[in-house]
Amino acid sequence: MARLPLIFAPDPRLKKVATPVSSVDAPLVGLIDDMLETMYAANGIGLAAPQVGELQRVIVVDIAGKNEPPQPFGLVNPEIIWADDTLTTYNEGCLSLPEQYSDVVRPQAVRVRYLDRHNQPQEVQADGLLATVLQHEIDHLNGLLFVDHISLLKRNMILRRLKKWKKAGDDV
Ligand code: NI
Repeated sequence: MARLPLIFAPDPRLKKVATPVSSVDAPLVGLIDDMLETMYAANGIGLAAPQVGELQRVIVVDIAGKNEPPQPFGLVNPEIIWADDTLTTYNEGCLSLPEQYSDVVRPQAVRVRYLDRHNQPQEVQADGLLATVLQHEIDHLNGLLFVDHISLLKRNMILRRLKKWKKAGDDV
């Protein structure tokens, strides 16, 4: 397994639509494991392949608490096949937008169809935090960030802060 370099917003690579995976083979399982390692190293609870420069429809998630055993979850070609009418608000962050948070409103439950690491079709019904994380990560596969769900004013404020932060990093 290897840690992969994260891409930070604003970056055109985060705005692209990712390509469906034709079949889950050994290199793709390797990507899932590398993404999990990268996510854990960054203390994240979700990561999408475009965030590490891979334009494929792959996401990883683990919402286990600090004192719980890890629950690594890799989803290939995830697709929301049902979303609850009831909405919920969660204060979201993103590994591609370090230290930026905003309330985002989304359906409180979803049903997601995906391929597992054995190339088998599966479905998961999720609510609460897992539903939020799955929707956030699937958004990444469609070139959407959590800031695309908030007001233009707030979005521009966050992106300006990130631009400044990236520029400061470049100067070091
Ligand atoms: Ni994210």
